[in-house]
Amino acid sequence: MKGLITAGGSGTRLRPITHTSAKQLVPIANKPILFYGIEDMVAAGIDEIGIVIGDTGDEIRAAAGDGSRWGIEITYLPQEAPLGLAHCVLIAREFLGDEDFVMYLGDNMLESGIAELVDVFEGARDPSRSPRPGEEVTAPVAQILLHEVDDPTQMGVAAFDSKGNIGRLVEKPRDPPSNLALVGIYLFDATIHEAVRAIKPSGRGELEITDAIQWLIDEGHSVRHEVLEGWWIDTGKKDPLLDCNRLVLEKIEPRVDGAVDEGSQLDGRVVIEAGAQIVGSTVRGPAIIGERTKVINSYIGPFTSIYHDCSISDSEVEHSVVLEQSTIAGIRRVVDSLVGRQVEVRHSEAKPKALRLELGDHSRVEVG
Ligand code: G1P
Repeated sequence: MKGLITAGGSGTRLRPITHTSAKQLVPIANKPILFYGIEDMVAAGIDEIGIVIGDTGDEIRAAAGDGSRWGIEITYLPQEAPLGLAHCVLIAREFLGDEDFVMYLGDNMLESGIAELVDVFEGARDPSRSPRPGEEVTAPVAQILLHEVDDPTQMGVAAFDSKGNIGRLVEKPRDPPSNLALVGIYLFDATIHEAVRAIKPSGRGELEITDAIQWLIDEGHSVRHEVLEGWWIDTGKKDPLLDCNRLVLEKIEPRVDGAVDEGSQLDGRVVIEAGAQIVGSTVRGPAIIGERTKVINSYIGPFTSIYHDCSISDSEVEHSVVLEQSTIAGIRRVVDSLVGRQVEVRHSEAKPKALRLELGDHSRVEVG
């Protein structure tokens, strides 16, 4: 079994962060989103992963490297433009060969990992592991994962036939046939290569993986589905990203590798990474403070991740994600925020007393 991770998209819904960097590298609990997908694959026993890259390819290569840190081999597959998820499979043909593979969208995260899903798919494809030996079963050529969502209109959505099998899959339907959305994690055998060659671009000009799976169904192949129990988040926007950060922080193991002075207090699940300094401050977990970051005379509240080389002074920050090398000084208080890299947010006594902004394109500011 091989792995295919898509990390080519331009991340338009996470602008302005993604004007300058890849959305798959935004950290969740101080680890790039992409690494969670890689680690899920490693835990499922996969040791050859192809990563589809686009404009932000150099940054992704620099972050994930050749895979040796996970004891695996990573191959980078450049995609000339974001032409769709089925197009990712098309260009990965040579890398994948005829092997079964897991496809994992680089901005998706799920609680449960994928080891069990891989095992169930392989079991269903192996006649010797069929629940009733001797019984004729059609081996599935694909397995999709579904999750109940409140608003399926921005997702792929499944409709079932009278026998409870997947009958139809529709991409971003205005009138959803169910509330079961397609999670961005799919298992395929080599039949999918025929499907991605057979389909045509959708209305949004992309080769949709949803259409390729529909082609498999229409051609009479068996497509299994599993309904996911734990949480699943498509981290492509600020609020889901903050939710995801909260869910991951709730499970981190507390540890202090940096320095915490006597005037500081750590409450609950808190990680202080190496070289970080906490001075005269309270950090109330779950929270993580990155390498070499300084927190001085400040309060860091629950569900906050401050990445590496930041400076937080005389400020209060809660339920937020702050990326590397940013400064927050003299601000009470920052909540529900995603702050990019090398950003400065400062209190100023200069007259007139007013907001002075220097914001990138697509920035958003709410003043309370
Ligand atoms: C893609 C898939 C969609 C799926 C979603 C999950 O959508 O096309 O079927 O439900 O990922 O994250 P996109 O991210 O391209 O909008």
